[in-house]
Amino acid sequence: MINKISIAVIKRLPRYYRYLGDLLDDGIVRISSKELSEKMKVTASQIRQDLNNFGGFGQQGYGYNVETLYEEIGKILGLEKKHSLVIIGAGNLGQAIIKYTDFEKRGFIFKGVFDSNPKVIGNTMHNIIVQDVADLKEFIKSKNIQIAVLTIPKSNAPELANDLEKWGIKAIWNFAPVDLNVSDKVTVENVHLSDSLMTLSYKLKDAENKTKK
Ligand code: NAI
Repeated sequence: MINKISIAVIKRLPRYYRYLGDLLDDGIVRISSKELSEKMKVTASQIRQDLNNFGGFGQQGYGYNVETLYEEIGKILGLEKKHSLVIIGAGNLGQAIIKYTDFEKRGFIFKGVFDSNPKVIGNTMHNIIVQDVADLKEFIKSKNIQIAVLTIPKSNAPELANDLEKWGIKAIWNFAPVDLNVSDKVTVENVHLSDSLMTLSYKLKDAENKTKK
């Protein structure tokens, strides 16, 4: 049984999952925490500590079975089953997301794309016809959609997020640069590239200050 795991550990798991996926593709069957640490540039003890949260999966003197570890981390991340998603906002970002096929390989299946602009509704994006957002409620209910991707302007996002909750959406992948006021029954993951860019700016400034000293 898995006890409560810190969010810091959970945030590191997708990276382990990605590396293990690459190792599997390269036909590598097992790997020691030392080898994995060299590849991932994190300490072997960090890897052991992280994976011990879930029962370890490693064996003394053998290391980790790559496939088992990949599958177990996938299960922890809820990737063993497919997820049905809708994208709301078929603009620049919505189109970029739907064209990126890796999400589907990971089991995130785009079932529908919605927009409010009559000029966009009816267009085809990645083999999916953009539908009118007025039909979204019915679509979510009939197709049992759990995840909504929000790529609409920030002025419209909070209101739509509240509707999405009423219509049964369980998780929102929010790209609109605004906080959503949904209840804690809905999981929200915000993705803000500009936040990441500002962090990069800070690190750059910090590195420059260190070289000046
Ligand atoms: P865009 O203007 O190209 O596309 C937005 C689309 O949303 C339009 O097609 C519009 O008709 C539609 N729309 C507006 N209100 C709607 C509603 N209530 N229901 C359904 N559709 C609606 O904009 P773009 O460049 O694709 O950006 C979309 C959002 O993503 C913006 O909020 C932008 O600030 C944000 N963004 C976030 C990034 C991030 O790192 N999180 C990076 C780039 C953009």
